Amino acid sequence: MCGIVGFTGSQPASPILLEGLKKLEYRGYDSAGIAVLDGDKINMAKTRGVIKNLCEKTHDGALLPGNAGIGHTRWATHGAPNDVNAHPHMSNDGKFAIVHNGIIENYAELKEELVAKGYKFKSETDTEVIAHLLDMYYTGDLKFAVMKTVSRLVGSFALGVLCACEHGKLFVVREKSPLILGIGVGENFFASDVTALIAHTKNVIYLEDGELAEITPDSVTVFDGAGREINKEISRVVWDIEAAEKGGYDHFMLKEIMEQPRAIKATVEPRIKNGRITFEDGGVTPEFFSGIDKIIITACGSAYYAGCVGRYVIEELCRIPVSVELASELRYRNPLVNGNTLLIVLSQSGETADTKEALRECKRLGARSIAVVNVVGSSIAKLADHTIYTWAGPEIAVATTKGYTTQVAVLDMLAVYLADIMGLITPERYSQLLTGITQLPSLAQRSIDLNTHLEYIAKRYSSCNPLFFMGRNIDYAVALEGALKLKEISYIYSETYAAGELKHGTIALIEDGTLVITLCCYEPLYEKTLSNVEEVKARGARVLAVVHEGNSKIFPLADDAIYVPKTDALLAAACEVVPLQLFAYYVAKDRGCDIDKPKNLAKSVTVE
Ligand code: F6R
Repeated sequence: MCGIVGFTGSQPASPILLEGLKKLEYRGYDSAGIAVLDGDKINMAKTRGVIKNLCEKTHDGALLPGNAGIGHTRWATHGAPNDVNAHPHMSNDGKFAIVHNGIIENYAELKEELVAKGYKFKSETDTEVIAHLLDMYYTGDLKFAVMKTVSRLVGSFALGVLCACEHGKLFVVREKSPLILGIGVGENFFASDVTALIAHTKNVIYLEDGELAEITPDSVTVFDGAGREINKEISRVVWDIEAAEKGGYDHFMLKEIMEQPRAIKATVEPRIKNGRITFEDGGVTPEFFSGIDKIIITACGSAYYAGCVGRYVIEELCRIPVSVELASELRYRNPLVNGNTLLIVLSQSGETADTKEALRECKRLGARSIAVVNVVGSSIAKLADHTIYTWAGPEIAVATTKGYTTQVAVLDMLAVYLADIMGLITPERYSQLLTGITQLPSLAQRSIDLNTHLEYIAKRYSSCNPLFFMGRNIDYAVALEGALKLKEISYIYSETYAAGELKHGTIALIEDGTLVITLCCYEPLYEKTLSNVEEVKARGARVLAVVHEGNSKIFPLADDAIYVPKTDALLAAACEVVPLQLFAYYVAKDRGCDIDKPKNLAKSVTVE
């Protein structure tokens, strides 16, 4: 969703802001803008559409000289995506320009008050009230004006402020929306996302809710909500700029699919010590689980589907009830949790609003919580009792791939770890599963290598719409993710059914030529799934089967096959999903879709 950047230093600000905004494109946006202080005047340029338009409009920034500025990519919430509603927004006299991520919930009443005082509004946004409030409260003390303004706001905001009277100075505030400061030499930055900073500095400060900061070229001063200066730790980002670039691939999505063996390895390997699984890096100890009598996994989208895999694995190994809940439902359901409930929260970005609020609500009701998160320092990572990071590196494509597989890998590990401390697993089974987990990176690579023919298969089926997925047990959970991948990047209507459920209604939709992608890797139920394949085949379906490598018996029942390497049945998901990601990728490519930035979608969904 929206992204913000800011720079102050001695270089021209505009090109740095434009570059930063390009790095935030992946979050999803519909318009963009920058504002730069030149002498005593703030100049602004903004436009609907892509950053390229903004670069053209500003001659790559040359038309907006100056060494301090702010920039924004907007994903419309209040008011249509157009030039006027794009950020930055300015006060009437041009003294303030601001950029804002989040939502100001009480903007209507603030607007009424400001209109009554004579302020003129240009846009339909909730954000514009902030520029006018700053103007109203500014009497020469920027920090005071910012704090006074913030005290009037209800909602979520990461705010960047530029003031024509304060040369070289930027002000930022964070409240329920991510904001990171980048510390340079003779120059400093802010952004909603590390990817926008990493080309300039790896030294960052993660602001917490309620904190504000004054940024000049030579200093960064952070204050708490009461305005008292506080000391903040400077963290070092562990990945390089190359990780956030395409590196020769046509799309980030393909690059990230290919990165999965490495990402799973980075997630798994450091957590196996002396033949035992450990989560001590996240502060998780066996005692933390004592007395737990139920587990709730909550998340949104693909992360929720990773949770669906987790339920099968944890329940099977730990014999403890596990429910998987959509965070947007859980948060409003007065959930049945207490101090004996373990809440596992899954989120690649660590900023998904519904997931964060579901976590907050369950914590309030006493649940113990573990977050499985990819983005270091993100809100969910901070809110949970313990955080287990998936070390997937930056995920830029809107459709998650390595985010999902690393979440699954952590859940596999957690299941084995828990089963062990609950005394429910023999040493032999423990070491069998541990070996299986250690092999996941190479097996994910094998999944990629086995499917070089997928581009051709995808071409054959790219006009099948709608289509269906089916499977049983873990195959079913993986199929849910396979169908979502197709929906979001190729816009094909694809739906998943538990294979045994098909004949209770949905089979009526199968007709001559309907594509049914059937996952047949969960061996304990292989024969059952095959009988479902027979059923759809008998009604004219084309069948694309996902089977273990070497399974030739699937023909002639299947029209085509996708192969995955054999793993322990419980650990199959991380490898089985890989060809489905590739299939979705090549189908979308064949259909000419904008793969990395599918329509209407945002990478990090920071509003409800
Ligand atoms: C699908 C996808 C989304 C996310 C969902 C949760 O490819 O990326 O469905 O999985 O929005 O996002 P996180 O994991 O950041 O909480």
